[in-house]
Amino acid sequence: MPKYLNLIGILTILAALSYCSGPAEDRQAGEADAPEQLSEETRQKYLKQGKTIASATFAALSGNLQAALQRGGVEEAAPYCQTVAMPLVDSLSEAYNARIRRTSLKVRNPQDEPTAEERRILEAYHRQAEAGKALKPQIHRMENGEIGFFAPIHVMSLCLKCHGKVGEDLSAKDYALIKELYPQDEAIGYAEGDLRGMWSIAFAAQPAE
Ligand code: HEC
Repeated sequence: MPKYLNLIGILTILAALSYCSGPAEDRQAGEADAPEQLSEETRQKYLKQGKTIASATFAALSGNLQAALQRGGVEEAAPYCQTVAMPLVDSLSEAYNARIRRTSLKVRNPQDEPTAEERRILEAYHRQAEAGKALKPQIHRMENGEIGFFAPIHVMSLCLKCHGKVGEDLSAKDYALIKELYPQDEAIGYAEGDLRGMWSIAFAAQPAE
């Protein structure tokens, strides 16, 4: 047997072992995935970076939203639930060499539609939420070689004015306005605490370990 086959065999066993024995935290929603050949050190590094990016972005987003809602209600605030136009997102993307986005099974902006890989993770998060489990951030090696960070996004009371039930937290008038901007909107009907979607942060491709 050629030497490299031996090496591949050993690497596969090592990857399988680290897959089975590592902390469950960062891979719980990817139960069906194959071993991803990432060392624990790499996982921890990207988990930390992902958490830093997601929490900084979330803090800025919700701060902007809150201020704009107070200034002029939903009409004024609607443009502030976007990551794309945020200078902070641009600078974090550059600093970490990462693509930062949010996605959901029910999107408002069609550009946030999940990829097939993201959809699998979102569906697993929803199954866990239905089972009453706590949802945790996780790291996956993506099909294109990038390292993906994923973390759940839950609905807070602040969000209901634009993502709640129409006629209750979300007024019919405000919803008409949202529908004008997003005719295909599906992102309504949520209650506080519901799983709204997830962060999906892709770090530039890393060589296999
Ligand atoms: C003032 C209205 C408003 C509020 C309040 C608001 N959102 Fe949004 N949300 C929007 C709009 C508009 C979009 C589409 C943004 C875009 O075009 O990128 C959106 C998009 C999103 C997305 C991206 C996925 C998608 O559906 O396109 C997520 C996730 C999200 N919101 C979560 C939240 C959470 C969590 C809160 C509360 C902390 C919240 N939103 C509060 C209006 C709002």
